[in-house]
Amino acid sequence: MKILTLGAAGFIGSHLTHRLLREGHTVVAVDLTSEKVAEYLDHPSLTFLQQDIRCPEWNLDSLVRDADLVIDLIAYANPGLYLRIPLEVFRLNFTENLKIAESCVRHGKRLIQFSTCEVYGRTAASLPHAHLADPEDPIHATFSEDTSEYILGPVSKHRWIYSSAKQLLERVLHAYGLEQGFNYTIIRPFNFIGPKIDFLPQAKEDIPRVFSFFMDALLNGTTMKLVNGGVNRRCYTYIDDAVECTYRIVENRNGACDRQIFNIGSPYNEVSIRQMAETMRQIYAEKFRDDATPLPQIVSVPGEEFYGEGYDDSDRRIPDIAKARRLLGWEPKWSFPETLEATMRYYVTESRKNRVPSAVGNG
Ligand code: UGA
Repeated sequence: MKILTLGAAGFIGSHLTHRLLREGHTVVAVDLTSEKVAEYLDHPSLTFLQQDIRCPEWNLDSLVRDADLVIDLIAYANPGLYLRIPLEVFRLNFTENLKIAESCVRHGKRLIQFSTCEVYGRTAASLPHAHLADPEDPIHATFSEDTSEYILGPVSKHRWIYSSAKQLLERVLHAYGLEQGFNYTIIRPFNFIGPKIDFLPQAKEDIPRVFSFFMDALLNGTTMKLVNGGVNRRCYTYIDDAVECTYRIVENRNGACDRQIFNIGSPYNEVSIRQMAETMRQIYAEKFRDDATPLPQIVSVPGEEFYGEGYDDSDRRIPDIAKARRLLGWEPKWSFPETLEATMRYYVTESRKNRVPSAVGNG
């Protein structure tokens, strides 16, 4: 197939581009920078276009028209940005992505749209008046694509502008499907992690995802900060598992993914952020430590102090992957410690060669 991949040189995009090329597809890759796909730039089946999709004059329509499939990964997906530049987060994640979807509608092309598990928001157990018999029961935190309700915070907590923008985009795709037979598949990633996930913070204003903060603290012997004690929980999914599932969606055997939404995540890898910090510190001490660097202290910091005004958080989210099992025969294989070790190994190796990814493109 000829596949147009937008956001092809971000974290997920760079791994997916590699897989698409390995499978023999022709890829037209669009991104702000080519750093994360540098090793494939000479590949005869890859055309890389350095392009900001917000620029009014670019040839989106002709690229879509010439493609067999469009994959859209373009997003600002770091919580620090939802707090700092909420309008731009809305503009990129909704307004600009909608133009891509509408071009696919016009040209009758199938679209795979990356969305987010953040659409689910918070759990019912986190509500002050929930009165659940067993608030710890994972059932209250397990989200299903087609049946779960969404719980988001108030407008003043502008973290949720990202979730809302993505949710609205999903709803518009669904409506185009209903009214005009548009063929899309939506993917909701649950905390993918692996080599190239993010840049390591270099300046005070850099706010990557939590893994990068912790990795940076380990490499430099600074402090690992737990936002509000690190009680929130996440299910970490190794990028190879995620790409395997995504590739099955690309293949779309028997049209199984037509107008479907898929959670992609590992329900077996649930940890609190505090457990993540402790596990990373332990793996680092056992496998990677250079004796001269002290192991970091783990301290708690208030959320508003770390992120600024408007901070809120998703407390817990476990993917229900019954649909991916049933329609795609997919099952995640990587355990949490294996996932962390492989990701850490990449950053330790690259930092020793002074080659840690830069902040351009934010992921
Ligand atoms: C983010 C995005 O919002 C999602 O769309 C995306 O799917 C997800 O990343 C992902 O990586 O897949 P989130 O999990 O909240 O969601 O991202 P992080 O910034 O990695 O935060 C995870 C938790 O760690 C949060 O509770 C945060 O407050 C906490 N944190 C972050 C710390 O305790 N210390 C830090 O130094 C940074």
